[in-house]
Amino acid sequence: MFTVAPIEAADKAGLYAELAAQARGLLHGERDRVANAANFAALAWHALPRINWCGFYFFDGRELVVGPFQGKPACVRIALGKGVCGTAAATRQTQVVLDVNAFPGHIACDSASRSEIVVPLVDAHGALVGVWDVDSPEPARFDDEDRVGMEALCSVFLDALR
Ligand code: SME
Repeated sequence: MFTVAPIEAADKAGLYAELAAQARGLLHGERDRVANAANFAALAWHALPRINWCGFYFFDGRELVVGPFQGKPACVRIALGKGVCGTAAATRQTQVVLDVNAFPGHIACDSASRSEIVVPLVDAHGALVGVWDVDSPEPARFDDEDRVGMEALCSVFLDALR
């Protein structure tokens, strides 16, 4: 059994470093994408404060399709370039959205969401795997430190697929 130790970090950098270390341990020795995504989402859900949704959308070769997540049921399919997730996938750049209501084309899955961060997932061959999406009920919940920490966390997920 994997026991998730409570994270008591003094700052965001410490929290993400500890979370990445726990994720590495959790995914170690397993390459199944769904299994790893499910455990990764559950780990992040319990570790990250002030969030109301976290999870994956995977690219099926045409569009993004929802994968393992924690939170309320979500929209299933998102076209590339649409919403925050589709924008992250199309541009391959992390999107930090301080106010989702001000983001053109934002797709509201949970009306409680006020801010959001979406990290594109690109494999070692440069192929789009999907995106990692985290929503918060708090405006401007995510900043550049979250971007750096969340990108490092996502590289643990991508490394496990190799
Ligand atoms: N808000 C996202 C859609 C996914 S949900 O937040 C789970 C977007 O605009 O892409």
